[in-house]
Amino acid sequence: MKLHITLLSVAALLASPAAFGDAAALYGKSCASCHGKDGKGDTKMGKKAGAKDYTTAEGQKWSDAEGVKAILEGVKDGDKQKMKGFTGKVTEAEAKELVTYIRTFKK
Ligand code: HEC
Repeated sequence: MKLHITLLSVAALLASPAAFGDAAALYGKSCASCHGKDGKGDTKMGKKAGAKDYTTAEGQKWSDAEGVKAILEGVKDGDKQKMKGFTGKVTEAEAKELVTYIRTFKK
């Protein structure tokens, strides 16, 4: 019985933070080169591409739906591809988690 409870609490501990950890890892791997580890977008590539500062209210002025669309389909400015889409690499569920993760950069 004691073992049973221990296993349950370990499962509960792993369940939620693990999902968030995945988004953080994914962000670090695929997004931080432009958007920055801290979301400021002040990396060499971020500045060149014109990434926003996600630590400010101004930089977060887009809806969750717009964010998911940007991640899956990319962002274009006329003919210029500002950010490529991640369809095939990131699922819609992961895109939603990434948006939730990006929201945590705002102070
Ligand atoms: C090549 C650099 C680059 C990479 C890599 C990149 N982005 Fe972007 N991202 C941009 C630029 C530039 C914009 C457009 C900013 C604008 O419209 O002013 C953008 C836009 C967005 C938006 C829409 C909101 C906004 O800022 O306009 C989201 C959300 C987003 N990126 C998330 C991500 C996520 C999550 C990843 C990784 C899976 C990622 N980006 C990878 C450069 C990049």
